[in-house]
Parts: sequence; C-alpha cells; structure tokens
Amino acid sequence: MSSAPSRPVRIAPSLLAADFTRLGEEVRAIEAAGADWLHLDIMDGHFVPNISFGPSVVRALRPKSRMPFDVHLMIAPADPYLAAFAEAGADLISLHPEAGPHLHRSLQTIRGLGKKAGVVLNPATPVESVAHVLDLLDLILVMTVNPGFGGQSFLDSGLPKIAALRGMIAASGREIALQVDGGVTAATAPRCIEAGADVLVAGTAVFGAGDYGAAIAALRGPGPGGSGPSGGAA
Ligand code: DX5
Ligand code: ZN
Repeated sequence: MSSAPSRPVRIAPSLLAADFTRLGEEVRAIEAAGADWLHLDIMDGHFVPNISFGPSVVRALRPKSRMPFDVHLMIAPADPYLAAFAEAGADLISLHPEAGPHLHRSLQTIRGLGKKAGVVLNPATPVESVAHVLDLLDLILVMTVNPGFGGQSFLDSGLPKIAALRGMIAASGREIALQVDGGVTAATAPRCIEAGADVLVAGTAVFGAGDYGAAIAALRGPGPGGSGPSGGAA
C-alpha cells in the first residue's frame, strides 16, 4: 500500500443485498452511514440468470435519497429501456457491450437523455472494448464476478484490467470513474484501489454487516472517512 493513490474512493452499496421488505429504510440507512452512490442492479433473467427489479423501484426510491443513482443494466436488449430508467431517476446508466449491437449508439442515447454513461466489462470482456468510446464515457465498471448474483467470490483476473484501464483513462485526459463490482470486501478493496479503482460497489460487505457505517469505512480504507491509519473513523 506504499504507493496507494490519493484519489478519493467512493463507495456504492448495491441494493441487491438489501432487505427488500424495507428498501426505503435501507437506502436512507446507507446514506446516513456515509455511502456515496446507490448502485442499482437491474437483471432480466435473460442477459443474466436472475431477475431483480425494474424502473418502478428506481422511481419509488428516488425521493428517499440525494445520492447519485448508479444503474447497472444487466438486460438485453437495453436500448428500449434507457429512457424509462432515465425518467425513473437514474443519474448514471451503465450497460454491457454484449447487450446490444451498437454500443456507441446506446451511449449516445444515454447522454442524449441527459445522463452519465458507463460501460461494464464482464470477466471475459477485454478492456479494448471501450477503446473507441472513451469520449462518451463517464464510468467504466470492471466486473470481478460473473454478473447475476451477489455474494460471489472475487476474481483476481479483474485487477490487471483495472490497472490497464487506469492507464487508458489517464491517456484519454478525460475524467472517467473506474468502478469495480463483485466480491468487494474489506480484504479485496485495497487491492482494487491499488490497481486504480476509485468507485467500489459492495452488496454483501455492506448490507450483510451489522454496522453499515463501519463497513463502508472499512471499504474506503485510509483517508478521509475511512478506517485505516489516517482515516480517523471511530
Ligand atoms: C452482480 C451485481 C453486483 C452484486 C455485488 O451481478 O452486479 O452489484 O450486487 O454483490 P456482492 O458485493 O455481494 O458481490
Ligand atoms: Zn452491479
């Protein structure tokens, strides 16, 4: 950790691991506990082998929080639903290149809706997939599990991809958030940050903890709001 980067680390708890009987309360609780973004996993039982929730849940939660709503689409096709998620209150909409035939067009659509746009890379999807759309991106998400379920084990193969993307982002001269999702815990988070990630998605590690504030601080690590040696969190 001697060369730990100084960029701020943002924590985006994944609602997928929340208590679905109390979603509004859960969102308020993580915001009060110091979460930066709310990560909303949208699954269709087709692109991924699980079904979660759709735009109506995003819309219902929007007035409950001031956090940016980070909508991760695991649906195919995604294009017919982009406007619905934008209108429901998404601030950032991310999709997988495999979800449609024209990634560039999909990203243009998201930006045309006035929202930030992201691309999500599955474990087998190469970093080069974003090389020609960097000018349209606000976020790149590296999956460190195969998408579809919370609570899976972190795949180390994502770490060199994060490092490569950090270099691509630096070379682009653009401000693009570099997010990691899947199996992020207090043990794996420092490795993601060291590789260059600056937004950590965590479901189980936050909502499965008794103390959301301590869990978020542990993920953030050293630094303001973190729990490491210079973090000062109680
Ligand atoms: C998986 C989702 C993740 C998931 C992460 O398809 O994209 O956001 O909720 O869950 P954990 O943090 O438990 O691995
Ligand atoms: Zn996700």
